[in-house]
Parts: sequence; structure tokens; C-alpha cells
Amino acid sequence: MSDLQKKTVLLGVTGGIAAYKSADLVSRLRKQGLRVLCILSRHAAEFVSPLTFEVLSGNPVAVDMFERRQSWEVEHISWAQQADLFLVAPASANFIAKYTHGIADDMLTTTAMACRAPMLIAPAMNTAMYESAATQQNLELLRGRGVHFIGPEGGLLACGDVGAGRMSEPAQIVEEALSLLTTDKPLLGKVIMVSAGPTREYIDPVRYLTNRSSGKMGYALAAQALRMGAAVKLISGPVSLKPPTGVEFYQVESTKELYDRSVDIFPFCDAAIMAAAPADYYVKHRHSEKLKKTGQPLSVELDENPDVAATLGQMKRESQKLVIFVAETNDIIKNARAKLRSKNADFAVANDVTQEGAGFDVDTNIVNIVAKTGSKPLPLMSKDEVARKILERLSAGWNA
Ligand SMILES: Cc1cc2nc3c(=O)[nH]c(=O)nc-3n(C[C@H](O)[C@H](O)[C@H](O)COP(=O)(O)O)c2cc1C
Repeated sequence: MSDLQKKTVLLGVTGGIAAYKSADLVSRLRKQGLRVLCILSRHAAEFVSPLTFEVLSGNPVAVDMFERRQSWEVEHISWAQQADLFLVAPASANFIAKYTHGIADDMLTTTAMACRAPMLIAPAMNTAMYESAATQQNLELLRGRGVHFIGPEGGLLACGDVGAGRMSEPAQIVEEALSLLTTDKPLLGKVIMVSAGPTREYIDPVRYLTNRSSGKMGYALAAQALRMGAAVKLISGPVSLKPPTGVEFYQVESTKELYDRSVDIFPFCDAAIMAAAPADYYVKHRHSEKLKKTGQPLSVELDENPDVAATLGQMKRESQKLVIFVAETNDIIKNARAKLRSKNADFAVANDVTQEGAGFDVDTNIVNIVAKTGSKPLPLMSKDEVARKILERLSAGWNA
């Protein structure tokens, strides 16, 4: 069980169009193993149904402070005490104003005042409301009191205006929430480089060779390393994922680019975790124009790319750590250990990509952490949990 599974997020939802996105937010928080209790303002309940939040959170939803329930608990106090994080998303200008000035005239604002847990607010409103002197001064006061904010983002708003005021995406809000909930930061002060995703080797301007890597494992590692306190440099091949907020991001396309970036950055890092799946070969003669069909078989000559992990292994200083990923289809441990030695890595994360639930483009993984002596098989886990295990192992290595 991860430590997050014992934690409770109290989610406040206020009256704005973005309230519909909070349903997705609840699902995402639950997926992380968190307990979620929802309080909707009466105006939020005009936009979204409490029933939706009841079903998604698996808990009763509070709207009205004076509603008579079965329990004799004073709900706004009891819920406030259970919270490890109070998250309000979307937060209306009205909620922000009331919370700033200690107005407690409904269930949400009363519970917010009674809660001592960290507060994370995701504002969402029309640009003029956001830029108004009242809202700006309220935000300033709340920041001074240690309240955390995420967003708002710029862009096209539901009201048709273009400007600041759009609620941050649920995935980003979850990331921020997890970071606030992760109180132990064993990687504080460490700089960790993570590589992720596939690379592309072009045959002509429109065709390329690549592989099935989705980047999910590397992105999970980058996000988890941030939560555990590290500064993260993420080097990524082309994937459809959004880099976690807070990473230093480097986009690459070919293995040669990944190699150059990695070699440049590694000297400034305490560790490198190479979760990318770089193409081993590149096309020797890349055509500058799109190839036309000739009615004849086409031969493409491939040459070996430089070995990124092995080069980092040669560069590695005594205090630096190198973690490699090994995707195998047979003799997993034996092959992983051979690669570990040849690349001078500290440990390898080996997976059998033929197993269901492991490897490419799935949210789970089954890995074996293979060191020079000994190996530790892990059961089927989410990639987030696998990331946590890998980083705990890395952190233990520094403290050994
Ligand atoms: C269609 C519609 C959309 C609204 N969107 C927002 C919004 O995005 N942000 C906001 O601060 N207020 C918005 N409002 C105004 C709030 O609903 C209003 O200020 C309300 O009093 C907020 O109450 P609450 O903070 O208790 O939920 C909207 C109102 C309507 C009718």
C-alpha cells in the first residue's frame, strides 16, 4: 500500500463552468489511491449533479450545512479534521473572496475555515474577474498566508473571452496535489535526469523507424522524482504526454539528439534514469525528398547509433548513479545483469515485455530490479508505484 492510500483529499467545487472537469479530477485522485470527500457549493450544484460526485468519489457529498443526516457528527468540523489536503477546483472569485475574509456562510466556506490542512486552490473565472483589483488583492493575501495555487491558465474561456482564467487541467492539479501530499522528500537537493519515450530515425522527410515506447514510465519517474523533492531534467522523444509541471524539459527526436543532450546534461546531475527506448539503428542514407514507389523492393541500410547509457556509464563520477531500463523477451535476469556490467550502471530495471500488463503503452508494469548482486522482483503495479520503488531504491543507494 502506498502512503497516499491513507490520505484524504477534501475537494471543494464552486459555481463555474469548469465544475464539470472536477468530475474527472475526482476519478484521477481516486486512481492514485486517495480517499476523496466532496463539498459542492449550492451554485456548483446548479452546474453539476452531487450524484455524479457521490458515485465517482464513493462517498456522500455535502452541499447543505443544515441538511439532516443519519450521523450526529458535525460534518464541517469532522471533514475538516480528516483532510490531508483541502483542494478547491474550480475556485470561483466569490469563494476566493469569502475564504480570504473569513466568511463562512455555507458548508464549503465553513469547512474551509475549520480546516488546518494545506489548501490548494485552482481558480477559474472570466479574465476581467480574475484581473479585478479585488481578486488580485485577495490572492496576494492568501499567498501570504501560505495557500497554494495552481493556474489559472490563459486561453479561450467558456464565456468567449481570451485571456487568463481557465482552470488548470485535472492532470496538472492532481500532480500538484500529490506533490503537496508527499511530505517525505528523500530526494531533496538531488538533480535527476530522466529520459523517456521512443526516438525516430528518418528514412525520408515523412517516414521514420521507431518503436512502441509511449513514454509513460519515464514521465511517471519524472513526476515522482519531483514529488520526492528532486530537481528533474526530462529528455523526451516524441510522445503524446504533457511534461509534468516543474521539470526542465528537453525535446529530442533521434537517438543522436538524445545522446548529445544526455552527454551535455549528465555532468550536472546526481543521477540519470534512462527509461527512453532509443532506436539502436539509424538510416545511413537519409533521403532528402520523399521516396516514390518504383515497383521494386526498397533496401534501407542501417547503421548503429551510439549507446547512450554505455557512454553515461563511462562518464559517471563516483558520486553519480546510473539506472538503466532493460526490455527483454527471454532470460531477463541474465541479460539484465550482462547489460548492467557492460554499461557500468548501478542497477537495471528489467521487464519482460511479453508479459501482460508489462512494458509498452500500458499504465502498469511488472519489473525486476537487478543489481550486480541480487535482484528484487516487484508484482504488477501502476507505473507511478514502480517509479516510486525505483526512486526509493536510488535514494537508499545514496544513504547506504
Ligand atoms: C453560466 C455561469 C458561469 C459562471 N462561471 C463562473 C466562473 O467560471 N468563475 C466564477 O468565479 N464565477 C462564475 N460564475 C458566477 C458564480 O456562479 C457566482 O459568483 C456564484 O455566486 C458563485 O458561488 P459559489 O462561489 O458559492 O459557488 C458563473 C455564473 C454563471 C451563471
